[in-house]
Amino acid sequence: MKKMGDFSSRLFFIVVLFGTLDRSASLQLIIGDCPIYFFERCIHSEVVKFILSIPSGNGSSLYELDPFNPVLPRGFNSLIPIKVVVHGYGGLDIDTSSRNVSKAYQDVGYNVIIVDWKPLAEIPCYTTAYLNTWYVAQCISILMVSLLPLGVSPEIMHVVGFSLGAHVSGLAGNNLQKVLGSSFYRITGLDPALPFFATLNNDWKLDKTDAAFVDVIHTSAGTFGKLEATGHVDFYVNGGSLQPACQYRKYPPLCSHIMAGLYFAESIRNTVFGGHSFIARKCDNVGHYILGLCNTFENMAIMGENVYYFTRGTYYLETGDQPPYALGFQEYYLKRSRSSDAFSAFVEKLKNFFKII
Ligand SMILES: *[C@@H]1O[C@H](CO)[C@@H](O)[C@H](O)[C@H]1NC(C)=O
Ligand SMILES: *[C@@H]1O[C@H](CO)[C@@H](O)[C@H](O)[C@H]1NC(C)=O
Repeated sequence: MKKMGDFSSRLFFIVVLFGTLDRSASLQLIIGDCPIYFFERCIHSEVVKFILSIPSGNGSSLYELDPFNPVLPRGFNSLIPIKVVVHGYGGLDIDTSSRNVSKAYQDVGYNVIIVDWKPLAEIPCYTTAYLNTWYVAQCISILMVSLLPLGVSPEIMHVVGFSLGAHVSGLAGNNLQKVLGSSFYRITGLDPALPFFATLNNDWKLDKTDAAFVDVIHTSAGTFGKLEATGHVDFYVNGGSLQPACQYRKYPPLCSHIMAGLYFAESIRNTVFGGHSFIARKCDNVGHYILGLCNTFENMAIMGENVYYFTRGTYYLETGDQPPYALGFQEYYLKRSRSSDAFSAFVEKLKNFFKII
């Protein structure tokens, strides 16, 4: 019972901490149709929902978790890793990127906590969605602290956030760091959102202090996604800003943004169902990569679910323009068969852009 006391006092601390902020700076407003829960306490359970998915039979069963009083369902197996998936702007209905990631985790048999904060992220409320990331992150931290007495620690959790969800994950990790002195074992940022997050201080955006390991995948850098490296390891796919599958699509930047989750979902399935890996090369910048200055064997890493925990630095890789996107080791070195046309066209554009040659 001593342990329980410890956990309760931590929970008390977290509530007091946020309660204090709440009293001094609480802000719950509606602008047009856009709600803001800025520095509000996590008491509005209808706006942030936690859906726990556990494997059952050949499918999965869903349960809602109350962040203050979570009850783990009978049949929950704590030896199976827990993946937390946080969607981006627009919510689960339109965020096919994070939905693909959750689906892949469910299909391979993980426990998944899907964070559904759609009421706070609805289109066209980007500004308020961005301000609401603070609230969502706070609710996640509270759930994490509440799960501790049940034997489930954030230190065994991997959080995957797409776009604005990547920043939510970072904020949640940051909260836990302050309250518990430790955070998630891993946060994966899928094309972390650019707007508003470019200039803010580190507390407000995903960075490598937010978890023991932070890996970031960039697919629409400079438009929807952030350009600069922010994790322990950053992967720039096909140059990082325009994806081959999106070249002829109506909205190439948005399509490229979404590709981050599709690549990642593919890497999750590959771990169980087989298939090529996303092999990347370490390189200082995209110019050096295109010029082939980084073509050495020492500098390789795998991107995605199976990234090696101690990988550090900035990496570049190419993919095909249709699923399966990963080229694997052989194709990567022998022939860029499927990606060659799309990629050469892309390289030409980049060369012109950077006036490298
Ligand atoms: C799951 O199991 C049910 C009943 O056993 C079966 O009808 C269904 O085809 C299975 N689905 C998959 C994807 O294997
Ligand atoms: C996965 O992404 C594709 C392409 O965006 C989409 O059509 C599909 O519905 C998504 N799957 C899920 C389970 O959301």
